[in-house]
Amino acid sequence: VAAEGAVFYLFGATGDLARRKLFPALFSLYKEGKLGEQFAVVGLARRPRTNEQFREDVYESINEFCRYKAKDADMWNRFAQHFVYMPLDIHNVDGFRELDRLSGELDKKFDIKGNRLFYLALAPELFGPVSFNLKGGGLLESPGWHRLVIEKPFGYDLDSARKLNEQLSQVFNEEEIYRIDHYLGKEMVQNIQVLRFANAFFEPLWNNQHIANVQITLSETVGVEERGGYYDNSGALRDMGQNHMLQMLTMIAMEPPSRLHPEGLRDEKVKVLRSLRKYNSSDEVRQNVVRAQYAEGNQGGKPLPAYRQEESVPADSMTETYFAAKVMVDNFRWAGVPFFIRTGKRLPVKTTEVVIEFKNVPENVLFAKRHDLGPNLLVIRVNPMEGIYIKINAKRPGSDNEVQPVAMEFCQSCQVGINTPEAYELLIYDAARGDSTYFTRWDEVAQAWSFVDRIAQAWRENPNDLQFYPAGSWGPERSKRLLADEGFHWWPVN
Ligand code: BG6
Repeated sequence: VAAEGAVFYLFGATGDLARRKLFPALFSLYKEGKLGEQFAVVGLARRPRTNEQFREDVYESINEFCRYKAKDADMWNRFAQHFVYMPLDIHNVDGFRELDRLSGELDKKFDIKGNRLFYLALAPELFGPVSFNLKGGGLLESPGWHRLVIEKPFGYDLDSARKLNEQLSQVFNEEEIYRIDHYLGKEMVQNIQVLRFANAFFEPLWNNQHIANVQITLSETVGVEERGGYYDNSGALRDMGQNHMLQMLTMIAMEPPSRLHPEGLRDEKVKVLRSLRKYNSSDEVRQNVVRAQYAEGNQGGKPLPAYRQEESVPADSMTETYFAAKVMVDNFRWAGVPFFIRTGKRLPVKTTEVVIEFKNVPENVLFAKRHDLGPNLLVIRVNPMEGIYIKINAKRPGSDNEVQPVAMEFCQSCQVGINTPEAYELLIYDAARGDSTYFTRWDEVAQAWSFVDRIAQAWRENPNDLQFYPAGSWGPERSKRLLADEGFHWWPVN
């Protein structure tokens, strides 16, 4: 079903996100009939560019990054005529007035009823000024709805996030603000609630009676690439922890929502965030959180530089490119169950995986004593492989009750003909339909910051806790101790 017609305003239209993710997402949606014909996309950036040049950029981006290619010339031409470009100085309200005039023309041309979606692929310090000028330029006066879609990071800490939110709320209502966490747009992250609540055999076991620990790994092989300037101020905790990792944790830990309604799900997620045990001192942070930076190393024999040698990174940087933590969810369901989370750049594989490790069967005269039984595992593979597998113990064929672990596997991404939508497709489509389920609400963001801020503060007080790991390795030794202290270990990822 096509979303209701709207003008999409793409701020940052000459940037990397637009090129890698947003143009391809719009094209896939168009191709699948989810955009219809009543829409326009206005590319906005400072740099002058003609409509033709802009369409050329879009074309190239699609052929490089989209899961569909723009092979059919007729279709491409139809799609491209929805795209226009306007150079804009976002600090000057006059340009916004002109944009409003242009919008009126686009509404007429494409039969759009004044619906406007403002997508800010910009640095967060520009969210406030752009919002004020959208209002000042008259862009919010059209009939129809107005929605603001913004990228992370939403602030640098709770304080700055609060200030940012105050600015935005002078112009938009909370219901009009769509804060992107693109992990929530991933099929397998959305699938967590279906697996949990549409099956009879997971939910009864989904608690501290049966689960020993949960492990969430989000590993990347890349280094900081050209983003050293941004990343060095952010680090892994802010770049991945505050948002993607905590969001995945909430999806695993939340109670079933009463309805499949955006607020139903988001209410449950925020309850999990409120239940996170806060670290109360630097010592507690040191015991439960490990931070590290990659040093020189190698991958498959290819030498890799240290983080401190990367472009735009200071030679004495103390920024973490890796962190691992033991997180406790202090509520009835999860009391006593550690959640181990880890993420890092320059690790050996790119993967996102959740492992649920179940408690062992009671030691008994049957098998547990005679053989060293491994625990049952449920593994949710988020990307690049998508699927789940369950590790169970079974009899080794031909043996005398010898037990061996076997895996029952559902590989979604291996299915023939499957062409999974990209996270950004799902999210843009949802925003265009007014479904904010998989966007983060202000109270979630605030709770996540207040958890992360304590860690960041402890790190500021003790900068020398930073560990180093060779690029291409699984991180510092200390992250193994986090688990070993509790009698667990990280399960190898696939
Ligand atoms: C982004 C981070 O939010 O997520 C990047 O800023 C990271 O540092 C990226 O590389 C990972 O996303 P994905 O979808 O490739 O796993």
